[in-house]
Amino acid sequence: MPESITLVIGASRGIGQEIVHQLSKDPNNQIIASVRTPTEFNNPRVKSVVLDLGDRKSVEAAATQVPEIDTLIINAAIGDGEKVLTTSDERLAEYFHINVGGPLRVVQAFLPALLARQTRKIVLISSSSGSLVEQINASSGFSGPYSLSKGAGNMLVIQLHNELRHEGFTLLAVHPGWVATDMGNISGSGGMPIPKSAQGVLQQVERVEKKDSPLFVAWDGSVIQW
Ligand SMILES: NC(=O)c1ccc[n+]([C@@H]2O[C@H](COP(=O)([O-])OP(=O)(O)OC[C@H]3O[C@@H](n4cnc5c(N)ncnc54)[C@H](OP(=O)(O)O)[C@@H]3O)[C@@H](O)[C@H]2O)c1
Repeated sequence: MPESITLVIGASRGIGQEIVHQLSKDPNNQIIASVRTPTEFNNPRVKSVVLDLGDRKSVEAAATQVPEIDTLIINAAIGDGEKVLTTSDERLAEYFHINVGGPLRVVQAFLPALLARQTRKIVLISSSSGSLVEQINASSGFSGPYSLSKGAGNMLVIQLHNELRHEGFTLLAVHPGWVATDMGNISGSGGMPIPKSAQGVLQQVERVEKKDSPLFVAWDGSVIQW
């Protein structure tokens, strides 16, 4: 049995894929990598499961294949540079369906697997765009409906902390920085290299303890105001 089992939601590309890659270098780790399109990771420490955040049946079917996890990293999200004043009802609903309902569906479905072990860490890859304080007069990065959904995702982290703290859970929201992924490159070409962000995120995941929960930090360890 590996020392640590981590489930990474949204591991097909970008930050999630790199988190899987970095975790898989340690022989004590087993990683379950969620993807929407079946993918082979060609690494005996990495098993993949097919999961679409927007589809409860798909999330529940994936959970039946995963009996135990120490750490759940919910990385998958949608994001674009839109403004609230020009966002349709349908687009706003899509943001909330994926970026808020998705993480909640995942936690609900994988709760038995988290309870099967003692570590019980739940990590949401958030964004400084979801910080109420940091968004006041913000002039760079995504804002608009993405920010609304990331702010609600942060509140989900707090609500999960409130409901799970007596079961020994640790809840962490991490801002990965501005990263040169498909999503990050929409804002221009100055994002940091993906490995640097993933390494920082994993340091925060490793470092956080139950007494810190709920915590919102950036990839470099600096605390962010909710
Ligand atoms: N990049 C940045 O600068 C930045 C800054 C702040 C926060 N973040 C956050 O960091 C996280 C990762 O972002 P990224 O830049 O790596 O994004 P990305 O390159 O756009 O990758 C997004 C990932 O999410 C998955 N995904 C999207 N919708 C999904 C769904 N319905 N079900 C399952 N998986 C789904 C994608 O899978 P498919 O390949 O199947 O589409 C992909 O693996 C996100 O939470 C994002 O909000 C990023």
